[in-house]
Amino acid sequence: MSSITVLGCMWGDEGKAKIVDFIGAQADVVARFQGGANAGHTIVLAGKKYVFHTVPSGILYPETKCVIGAGTVIDPFGLRDEMQSLMAQGIDFTDRLYIDERAGLVLTLHKQLDQKSEESLGLEKIGTTGKGIGPAYSDQAARCALRIGDLLYPEWLEQRLDNFYKYHQLTLSAAERNEEIKALQEAGNFFAPYIVQTDRMLRDWYSEGKNILFEGAQGTLLDLIYGTYPYVTSSHTVSGGVCVGTGFPPRWLDNFLGVFKAYTTRVGAGPFPTEIEGPLADQIRKAGNEFGSTTGRPRRIGWFDAVAAKYSASINGIDSLAITLLDVLTGIPKLNICTNYLIYNQKLPGFVSHPMELEKVQPNYITLPGWETDISNVQSWEDLPKEAKQYLEAIQDLLKLPVKLVSVGQERHQTIVVKGKV
Ligand code: IMP
Repeated sequence: MSSITVLGCMWGDEGKAKIVDFIGAQADVVARFQGGANAGHTIVLAGKKYVFHTVPSGILYPETKCVIGAGTVIDPFGLRDEMQSLMAQGIDFTDRLYIDERAGLVLTLHKQLDQKSEESLGLEKIGTTGKGIGPAYSDQAARCALRIGDLLYPEWLEQRLDNFYKYHQLTLSAAERNEEIKALQEAGNFFAPYIVQTDRMLRDWYSEGKNILFEGAQGTLLDLIYGTYPYVTSSHTVSGGVCVGTGFPPRWLDNFLGVFKAYTTRVGAGPFPTEIEGPLADQIRKAGNEFGSTTGRPRRIGWFDAVAAKYSASINGIDSLAITLLDVLTGIPKLNICTNYLIYNQKLPGFVSHPMELEKVQPNYITLPGWETDISNVQSWEDLPKEAKQYLEAIQDLLKLPVKLVSVGQERHQTIVVKGKV
């Protein structure tokens, strides 16, 4: 029995889904513990594309069980669409998908509030995905939110919905109220076979010797507390979030794999010390298809930031690294890695999370030679060009953590396992 936690360690979009899919072969269970439909990724399997927002991508392995944990927030209509389109592609969810009854609901009002709040902030906006994530989590803290388990109790559902609108000081017309209740009850009927209390199941599976994989969404620098607040998401993306979001005991978290892109990206607003702009950023954006999978927004591009990476690795207790999208750097003659931050020429001891400080820091870089050869079909560490190895070794040395996996393309087979299995 073992558990592995796979975490995005920067500002999200590190290619976690590809890594989860790759090591998912060894997992009996894949569980999500935070976030909602703000996440988005596509898995390419045998040339076929599968789109995921809330369903754990482990569902692509027919024997693997998947859990959507209590710490997530679910847009019931979005998740139903997602599941129905995966069903149409042949995915069977019966006795394989378990949704915790305590997962929060994202209602239509949450999405409207998210969008309105962004509009009113104007230039100061967070740059959210508009999926209602912040308002849904705020309402949980305010105890007026509904949870997915509420959909199974018609009278309770009506009462909770009325209280929800009272809290927001809104009055629905009778027709609007009936329509929303009807839609939620229909969604409830759809989800009924999947709604359970998943914490006990996860603990039982672990005790029975099963391998459990916890799949993070977004990234450490988007964590509500430890990220670059306020330019963050509203959930706990760090390793500590696993326990709260699934009811799994901390002492049973055995192994932490940190996923980093070979360079850095960020969507949405907020300071980004190693950001680059111009033709090189455009080249990387194009080669890496760096456009948000949920919103289609172009992602901001930057060099690998070992200062932020070290912070993230230490907050999460990362054991080993997965470096993704290395192939995207092919053909760039010189590659920079940020080794430390300076403010007014003074070297800082590490990462700074306050935006007023982070936007002032000057990154200090080491520059390494790039490589020209196509690496997208390389299958082993030995076959990588020496410059690519040197680049990965520099990351390894700066973070003092071993690189265990290197991804050189979208497909499962385009993954190099370094020094044995993860
Ligand atoms: P929210 O999670 O939609 O509230 O957005 C808050 C911040 O997190 C914004 O900067 C988003 O761009 C960012 N964000 C949310 N989800 C993702 C993701 O899956 N990948 C990258 N950034 C994300």
